Amino acid sequence: MKVARFSKVGFILAAAGSAVGLGNIWKFPYMTGENGGGAFVLIYLLTITFIGVSLFLAEVLIGQISRKDAVSAFETLSPIKNNIWKYAGYMVFTGVLVLSFYTVVVGWIFKYIYISIFSLPTDIKLAGDAFNGMVGNEIGIQLFTFTIAFALIIWIVSKGVIKGIEKVNLVLMPALIFILVLLFFYAISLDGFGQAVSFLFVPDWSKVTSNSILAAVGQAFFTLSLGVGTIITYAVSLPKDTNLVKSSIIVAAMDTAIALFAGLIIFTFIFHFNAAPTQGAGLVFISLPPLFSQMGIMGNVIGFLFFVALAFAGITSAVSMIEPSILYLTNRHKMSRKKALSILGTAIYILGTLALLSNTKEFSEVLKFSGKGFFNILDFLSSSILMPLAGIMIAIFVGYFIQKERIYATLSPYLNDRVFNLWYFTIKYIIPIAVSAVMINKIFF
Ligand code: PFF
Repeated sequence: MKVARFSKVGFILAAAGSAVGLGNIWKFPYMTGENGGGAFVLIYLLTITFIGVSLFLAEVLIGQISRKDAVSAFETLSPIKNNIWKYAGYMVFTGVLVLSFYTVVVGWIFKYIYISIFSLPTDIKLAGDAFNGMVGNEIGIQLFTFTIAFALIIWIVSKGVIKGIEKVNLVLMPALIFILVLLFFYAISLDGFGQAVSFLFVPDWSKVTSNSILAAVGQAFFTLSLGVGTIITYAVSLPKDTNLVKSSIIVAAMDTAIALFAGLIIFTFIFHFNAAPTQGAGLVFISLPPLFSQMGIMGNVIGFLFFVALAFAGITSAVSMIEPSILYLTNRHKMSRKKALSILGTAIYILGTLALLSNTKEFSEVLKFSGKGFFNILDFLSSSILMPLAGIMIAIFVGYFIQKERIYATLSPYLNDRVFNLWYFTIKYIIPIAVSAVMINKIFF
């Protein structure tokens, strides 16, 4: 199989482009708000540190030593002949589920690019009405922005990974970070900042339930793009002598820092406006626009730049969700990239449309299953079930099925023996046990 190679920074940029996205700025704050704040954040941070980084490295390892699509990677690295491990590789299709609802949110952001220029709501009540009105009632506009987002993502993917992603990332990631830093300094000067800090960092254990623990673990998987084969697929293009460990840590640290920044900013504004943290999926769209509006014309500019940068952060993540299944289809089924993309694109467009409609008043009843709307089902199924399950499989595969000597040979240039053993122990025991425990806990309690 021929694959183009990333440059060394290219891999970090692409992996960071995948990790940093709406998960950090849209989903992390609203999940934190819905799950009571500090305790959720703590579980999230613990999961990233003790599980996420190790799994990230495990995925990099699988991609790096197999240099194959995820399905073939599991198949060829497994010592068992005719084995069932290839089925673990089907995790690539989780990316299709994620992309379906993710594209709807990119569509919302497109609408907010327009809003930030022409009609910023002046207070938080109006902002709430505007967001909820859009999601609940404006089917035509949402379908329009969703379709544009979809077309853009498919177009970028059809261009191929390297060229598409590296260039866009090089400009937009720093732009996003710059705007966040700007907003952060503004937030520090407001009263709500202290409240935001305690909301995010002082755990209230009474808010912890089996649901919120699973949600925090799922969010950690989601934010690092784990359990979809994305990191495996990107690591296929990694130059041989890249420091795998350092790259994994850089990406995870950057991703976490951005989520925490976003959380601090958004909750400062929420408390500044005396609004409730439990605004759900609208949180970022409700908390920021009134603030931009208060800044006058500068607010229009900053708001515009913020939503543009956010859209692109979303798009670079979106591209990374579909690449694993494209590589699988083109590699294993000898499909052309175009054909693979048409099949996957059709599925995404249909599922995405249903997700979009499930939030609207008109269709919410029809598209509800056991009390949950289809949009939320796609999200829950992928982040809280499929990604953690895939994480367990990856850990078991690396821990028990790939020869330890081979792993050691690949990683030892970048880790000392103590750290290697710690990582290996985490992969073999901690991850399978801890993640299963969280999932089982949710089923029974
Ligand atoms: N990590 C992305 C984010 O935080 O927005 C979302 C994501 C990307 C999930 C790629 C899954 C994936 F395969």
